[in-house]
Amino acid sequence: MKYLKIAFTAAALLCAEASFAQQKTISAKVDALISKMTLDEKVGQLNQLNGDWEATGPVTKDVGNKLDDVKKGKVGSVLNIMGTNHTRAFQEAAMQSRLKIPLLFGQDVIHGYSITFPIPLAEAASWDMAAMERSARIAATEAAAAGIHWTFAPMVDIARDPRWGRVMEGAGEDTYLGSMIAKARVKGFQGKGLGNIDAVMACVKHFAAYGAAIGGRDYNSVDMSRRTLWETYLPPFKAALDAGAATFMNSFNDLNGTPATGSSYLQRDILKGKWGFKGFVVSDWNSVGEMIPHGFVKDNYEAAEVAIKAGNDMDMESRAYIGNLAKVVKDGRINIAVVNEAVRRILTKKFEMGLFDDPYKFINPAREKAAMNRPENIEAARDMGRKSIVLLKNEKNILPLSKSIKSIALIGPLSKEKWYLKGAWSTDVDPNDNVVTIYDGIQKQAPGAKIYYAEGCKIKDSVATDFKDAVDAANKADVVVMAVGEDIFMTGEARSKANIHIPGVQEELIKAVVTTGKPVVVLLMAGRPMVFNWTADHAPAIVYTWWLGSQMGNSVADVLFGNYNPAGKLPITFPRSEGQIPIYYNSLNTGRPAQGDNDTFYRSSYIDLPNTPQYAFGYGLSYTTFSYSNISISKTNIKKTESLTVSFDLQNTGKIAGEETAQLYIRDMVAQPLRPVKELKDFKKVMLAPGETKRITFTINKEKLQFYNDNLQLITQPGEFKLMIGAASNNIKLEKTFQLTN
Ligand code: GLC
Repeated sequence: MKYLKIAFTAAALLCAEASFAQQKTISAKVDALISKMTLDEKVGQLNQLNGDWEATGPVTKDVGNKLDDVKKGKVGSVLNIMGTNHTRAFQEAAMQSRLKIPLLFGQDVIHGYSITFPIPLAEAASWDMAAMERSARIAATEAAAAGIHWTFAPMVDIARDPRWGRVMEGAGEDTYLGSMIAKARVKGFQGKGLGNIDAVMACVKHFAAYGAAIGGRDYNSVDMSRRTLWETYLPPFKAALDAGAATFMNSFNDLNGTPATGSSYLQRDILKGKWGFKGFVVSDWNSVGEMIPHGFVKDNYEAAEVAIKAGNDMDMESRAYIGNLAKVVKDGRINIAVVNEAVRRILTKKFEMGLFDDPYKFINPAREKAAMNRPENIEAARDMGRKSIVLLKNEKNILPLSKSIKSIALIGPLSKEKWYLKGAWSTDVDPNDNVVTIYDGIQKQAPGAKIYYAEGCKIKDSVATDFKDAVDAANKADVVVMAVGEDIFMTGEARSKANIHIPGVQEELIKAVVTTGKPVVVLLMAGRPMVFNWTADHAPAIVYTWWLGSQMGNSVADVLFGNYNPAGKLPITFPRSEGQIPIYYNSLNTGRPAQGDNDTFYRSSYIDLPNTPQYAFGYGLSYTTFSYSNISISKTNIKKTESLTVSFDLQNTGKIAGEETAQLYIRDMVAQPLRPVKELKDFKKVMLAPGETKRITFTINKEKLQFYNDNLQLITQPGEFKLMIGAASNNIKLEKTFQLTN
């Protein structure tokens, strides 16, 4: 054993040495190249243009000939370009430039490339880090084979406001869960490391606090204490950086009066300074130029100066850098060293990706064809879909359905929908005819069932009818499955909504069908939490499916017919009303906390609505049941240098195997500044056979107890802590307290 350890240590040392040597070599190569570059060529490396595929932001008109710009060394990167045929043409142009510096090709591969995986918020509901890493790994493999070097993902913005359309793109409201997921996704995208043929650079975005846009209105201002910034919004970025993320993207929003793109506090003090980030920062689409409408600078000349000084290395699509930066340097507004630093960061990544050794390394049509839509990867998408589904209600165990059921009424405007199932930020590489619809999925798993289909209404219908076709279909069938929700344009960027109820008259349709008295299963399909209070109270079974991508119909059918016992848990709070927003589980107690939903007399509550959400963070049912018992704690007193363990028995008390995600929350009972009523600090996914019991143990140490004080120092304070073990943030099963002593 001893010799094995020595061997491992030696191997590790050799790897570290090799990596250090490689970095030294690259650094020398970068220095040598920079010494040959003109000022214009340096500025060219900081310029990113949109390709010829599609635009993901406001398009600048009459941009001239992009390929010519590339040949003149005026472009360092191109985004929204996909496929080896497209990328080859641009790379060939780059090879005609004086110094033959290869281009970086970037793309929003957010949840899949050719195979579409569930939207990130759906994947977050799986709480399954391995599955999410695999999902990103497959996306990267397909994207890299298509000539893409760099994905603008993971989006790690904490979001507590479901009115914000981009809530679909992240991991929900919790910092701990969001940090774990950020790490998993970076590891998935970058795989064995830059330079591997199936690794793409990750890009952690949007730095920072973009998800806290006031009013949930996209691009709106963000205003928060630095303590909240550090405590709630920054940790997922740090987790992604620690996981080795190659690049960062800043954000459109202003934070406390400074646009993130022009924030030296964010990009230099924190990211490149305190955190020591060695990669590069790309602006968001035109965010350099948008400092003008922000009112932060008067023109693109100032925007270029402010952004490069603040640490923004690459300018996506504003053309502020290419049009002004050389003059900013010549006018002595900035030292050439500032430009050189940005160029160095970008060239270093191009070397690490192996693009100087072979600019066409990622351009191989045969490999591209072989990599796409592989059966095992399609199966992985179906599996990720199953794991992302959250069972919200299942009265009288309507679910799972029997596969020998005689007839099913399938009702709703999303029953046969294809494209929408891919959700926002899906690529259109693969036409939607590879998407499995809800209808297809059900038909395949219940081939003997007669399916009575009725659309019922359109998603955006504003006038309810008697829904006769739908009611007739329901009356003919043994069971009803309804497929209702949003359309693909209702979540995503610039898709904020003031009203997040189920759109149109779909809830009236649900009412009409439930009123038939038939067993009804409502599938709610959306990229965000919706409000559906009548359905929540009256529909016997409710399944939140989100948007699950190419295999959605199969994933949903796997759950409906019991091939898979749902285990998803909500990564975000579901409000009863938009009026409650922002509403999140880890809030402060206030001096007049409401004790229950009807406690409004001089209490912090609403007089017209219960204080609690419709569904809480961490909530999700199973087809079986679980019991939590027999909690014990290893110590009731610890110093901050010590740790303790808390253990409990988790039993499957039902008749089928199932997986429970047991959650550990803590509360620091007395602290200055205040601490939330509960904070997620750990969780365990536990698969149990019927009747099986496992003893689960969590460890509590200083890292789980510390928090930021007003001086932004990470501290712990002595006093009483409560440990809570729960099946959801509002379903605490077991508790213990302990003292933290000096
Ligand atoms: C968009 C998004 C950003 C994306 C970029 C490139 O506006 O804000 O997330 O990566 O532009 O498409």
